[in-house]
Amino acid sequence: MQTPNFEHFLGLEELTKGEILNLFSLAKKFKLSNKKHSLLNGKTVVNLFCEPSTRTRTSFEIAAKRLSADVVNLNPDASSFLKGESLKDTINNLCAMQVAAIVVRHKVSGIPYLISRYAKAAIINAGDGAHEHPTQGLLDTFTLYERFGDLKSLNVTIVGDIAFSRTARSNIWALKKLGANVTVCGPKTLIPSGIEKMGVKVTYNIKDAIKNADVLNVLRIQLERQEQKFFPSLNEYATYFGVTQNLLDKHGKEKILIMHPGPINRNIELSDEVADSPNSVILEQVTNGVFIRMAVLVSSVCAK
Ligand code: NCD
Repeated sequence: MQTPNFEHFLGLEELTKGEILNLFSLAKKFKLSNKKHSLLNGKTVVNLFCEPSTRTRTSFEIAAKRLSADVVNLNPDASSFLKGESLKDTINNLCAMQVAAIVVRHKVSGIPYLISRYAKAAIINAGDGAHEHPTQGLLDTFTLYERFGDLKSLNVTIVGDIAFSRTARSNIWALKKLGANVTVCGPKTLIPSGIEKMGVKVTYNIKDAIKNADVLNVLRIQLERQEQKFFPSLNEYATYFGVTQNLLDKHGKEKILIMHPGPINRNIELSDEVADSPNSVILEQVTNGVFIRMAVLVSSVCAK
């Protein structure tokens, strides 16, 4: 296996199938060895999260520490942003301290791409607006790859807020490259027009969405990104698109796999019963996130 080499790690749109599979092999190696490595000894990784995060930020920190990197968590609410410093100056100052990588989450789509044009450190996208969340897309597909091996012809349905979800977009890029059949389902107002061009099928009916699915990846409604109402109420959303055990029993395959990137709004997009059922791999996704991020960090930092 060839260790992939990325100057920056920005999105799954630009990755090849081979690069994705190489990252999976590397992640699998880290998972099997389950120990601390010295690969990033002497390197510094900065987490710059300008949006809330529990899983992704912690997972990047644990991944970097398992590779022996030093980790700095920069809190934007206690930084010189508040004194009017620009993002560019902040990044250039971090680079002047010779950090090896900056993991960036930002509410504006495209910000990691913009930063990568001038940053001397490797820029790793940890979620940019509604655009991409590449490590989430990788850890989700890696979880499926571990379960099913070949993803060719696997039927994956992504349910929920497709319009505002970066997780949806990154999953679609990876799943399509790996040969899966992807269907998206949600209220018409939350399915972007033209999404079919990404090679996905669209349905607005949750029963149809569940019927042939081997995997259901359920997403949160991204209220923080919506400036207007796209459906009458969360209760109504739950009634028409909430995934319940009853719905799965009636319309789903017996072994349908349930995924969610977290955070879950329990009993809105997913009932407690389904989230905690034996078919749910939600915590396995979280476990795999650390190994995927170790693979991404090694591939990006060692390239610098
Ligand atoms: C996702 C995100 O931030 O885009 N969460 C995550 O990183 N685990 C999905 C979400 O917030 O709903």
